[in-house]
Amino acid sequence: MAKKQVLTAIDVGTTKVCTLVGEVAGDGDIRVLGVGITPSGGMHKAMVVNIDEAKEAIRESIKKAEQTSGLRIESAYVGVTGRHIASMNNHGVVAITRQDRMVRTDDLKRVLDSARNVKIPTGHKLLHAIPRAYAVDGQPGVKNPVGMYGYRLDVETHIITAATTAVQNLVKCVRGVGVDIDELVLEPIASAEAVLSEEEKEMGIVLADIGGGTTDICVFKEGSIWHTAVLPVAGYQMTRDIAIGLGLPFDVAEEMKKRYGSVMPIHEVRDEELEMISRDGHGVSYQELCDIVRARVDEILRLILLELPQSNYETIVPAGLVLTGGSSNLPGIDLLGREILRLPVRVGVPQRVGGINDMLGDPAYATAVGLVLWADKNRNAAKKRSRFNFSFKNIINQLTRFFR
Ligand SMILES: Nc1ncnc2c1ncn2[C@@H]1O[C@H](COP(=O)(O)OP(=O)(O)OP(=O)(O)O)[C@@H](O)[C@H]1O
Ligand SMILES: [Mg+2]
Repeated sequence: MAKKQVLTAIDVGTTKVCTLVGEVAGDGDIRVLGVGITPSGGMHKAMVVNIDEAKEAIRESIKKAEQTSGLRIESAYVGVTGRHIASMNNHGVVAITRQDRMVRTDDLKRVLDSARNVKIPTGHKLLHAIPRAYAVDGQPGVKNPVGMYGYRLDVETHIITAATTAVQNLVKCVRGVGVDIDELVLEPIASAEAVLSEEEKEMGIVLADIGGGTTDICVFKEGSIWHTAVLPVAGYQMTRDIAIGLGLPFDVAEEMKKRYGSVMPIHEVRDEELEMISRDGHGVSYQELCDIVRARVDEILRLILLELPQSNYETIVPAGLVLTGGSSNLPGIDLLGREILRLPVRVGVPQRVGGINDMLGDPAYATAVGLVLWADKNRNAAKKRSRFNFSFKNIINQLTRFFR
């Protein structure tokens, strides 16, 4: 069994920064050693807009996680998302020219390199090239071709790119507080690790993380990632609509949304629909508040659906939709989802999390928990890279860490 290793994840969200220190057991259970959750600063729609403010929030979150774990955080897996994310599927092919025609690990690397060779949008950098399926001598559906015999190896990959400047700003904030980056991971891919089962991914399923600033979408089919997208609408826009629609200050609207907001389909709403609710001297109708939230959630669910081909989406994702992110706490969101999609819909809360996990049983923490799980799955590759990463930049990082 692989040795357990302490891993750190930082989810720099639009509304909160969550740093998680944990170790993953062989069976996929996480033992949480430290958590640091702080309100975000300097972020808009999941992107850094003020380096100093973002850095302060990250520093605070890391400090808390260090205090609770008693460990010094030197490097972390960091989530990235935002409207700038682009994705595409690409194909790679190589010949197996060796005498024995057996596929080796080297060939996997070569065929992935060939699939990576796509035209990346100007100003973007490659974030992930994820192999989806291999074919050996034209025989598709091969999950692991190593050890098979053939003349030709094909791979289908899902390529994800991000705007270079958006990534540079995030990296600058994290490195600026003396923490090195093990790997940048697209946030919905991380969330999926925390809440989807292998069977669901095999059948076909959508994950949508409805956070504060963005709704991150990830579609899985035949066990692998098939499509990713980021929508620039989420909880912040719901609160803004409530604030404008009902004439409330933003923070009162946010409080009211979290306390009373519901998207129960109309026929499920009980007597409270006639009630007036009030907060800090502001009174509004429960019905009006819920109408605004429901209209926004309805719109977001329909936008999620638009990411799938309209003609046969039921056959592509028969396992339905799993919702994560803080906004999926809205009561009735699963029912409304079922009405719109006519497929199973559930809210995904991170499971199998032990240790000091009191706050993590909330869909808002699926990304941070998933980052640790993703890191555990991919750590060997990262370790190999970091072994050769003894650069001037690293020395600077060590010094920054020392003075922190
Ligand atoms: N009980 C609740 N009811 C309604 N909305 C909620 C509730 N709890 C949290 N939210 C909303 O969830 C959002 C924050 O979710 P989350 O923590 O997943 O976002 P984030 O990760 O910071 O942002 P993003 O991923 O978009 O960058 C806020 O808009 C907040 O209002
Ligand atoms: Mg988030």
